[in-house]
Amino acid sequence: MTSTESDDSDDELPTLWEKGVTGSGQVFYIDHEHQETQWEHPLTKNMTYIPKGTRKRSELNKRYSIVDPRIILKQDASTEDLSTSYGHQSTALHILYGKDLSHKTAIITGGTTGIGFEVARSLAKHGCHVIIGCRNLTKGEAACAKIRQEQKNIDISCRELNLCSLRSVKQFSEKYRQDRLPLHLLILNAGILKTKLDLTEDGNEEMFQVNYLAQVYLTMSLLPSLLTTKSKGPTRVVAVSCEAHRVESPGISTVDGIKIERLNSRSPAYFDHLLAYGQSKLCLIMFIAELKRNYPLASPQDPTALILYMTGNEKAA
Ligand SMILES: NC(=O)c1ccc[n+]([C@@H]2O[C@H](COP(=O)([O-])OP(=O)(O)OC[C@H]3O[C@@H](n4cnc5c(N)ncnc54)[C@H](OP(=O)(O)O)[C@@H]3O)[C@@H](O)[C@H]2O)c1
Repeated sequence: MTSTESDDSDDELPTLWEKGVTGSGQVFYIDHEHQETQWEHPLTKNMTYIPKGTRKRSELNKRYSIVDPRIILKQDASTEDLSTSYGHQSTALHILYGKDLSHKTAIITGGTTGIGFEVARSLAKHGCHVIIGCRNLTKGEAACAKIRQEQKNIDISCRELNLCSLRSVKQFSEKYRQDRLPLHLLILNAGILKTKLDLTEDGNEEMFQVNYLAQVYLTMSLLPSLLTTKSKGPTRVVAVSCEAHRVESPGISTVDGIKIERLNSRSPAYFDHLLAYGQSKLCLIMFIAELKRNYPLASPQDPTALILYMTGNEKAA
């Protein structure tokens, strides 16, 4: 099938795939893993043609890139340059531009600030019912109020969720299930990087619990809500990770996998903060892969779990 528009599923590409466009406007797909190109979208098998005016040639490398037509319609020449398709410069607002997320419900951890706040803001501004799980309700209410101020009919609220306490995670998810709310999108965004060894009330190293353990517990406790919602349409779990999952420390590399003896290290003698952070993120990625294998929540064109490798810029979301 050849189309001139890309639907939502055409925005999704598997890992290590890239989209390009020829000078005549024909979209092609690059498989970096196997060093091959093809005209068909690897998932939808669609072939797409980009009309004149929505493609642009880079002065730098002479390659053509696609300008999202929705962005073209929105931008005038005097505003920010959005001349490429989505990338590290894309903001959460740009990515959701034109989408109608009314009738969708999302939970986001760590939505009070940083990347999580921007994602919560964009989801809410596009009609999604957003619930921020936060450890500090005053801070959570302030974040919601700020977002509500921007637009009428924003549906955003916060609920107490302290990832340092498995009891708090249990209370949050039990209440959510009791309320029988749908759950289309669960965003595991909260994350901490600490230089000092601290233990949670459950006796775990704090980064291990906040970045990984508590969010796995949250996901598994909310699985009934995700699966019930799935019977009416796709649902997703999104984990915000970090390139630090590849972190190395003198004599230790996580490239070959988890270092069990250093995992959840509760002893200062074994605590290396970068390694602990990296391992917590590596565990999270492995959990998402396993979740996807065991619980295909969405259709093949709509991946179950999307791991975002954040590069330290709240613009990218
Ligand atoms: N920014 C970067 O450079 C970067 C780079 C790579 C990956 N990442 C990842 O991206 C994600 C977001 O990063 P960010 O920079 O936006 O972080 P941030 O600005 O520091 O925000 C972290 C969020 O997590 C929440 N949080 C921390 N501990 C919590 C707990 N015990 N219970 C519940 N919520 C808790 C914080 O809540 P409070 O408001 O209460 O503190 C805050 O909302 C993290 O997973 C991080 O690892 C970030």
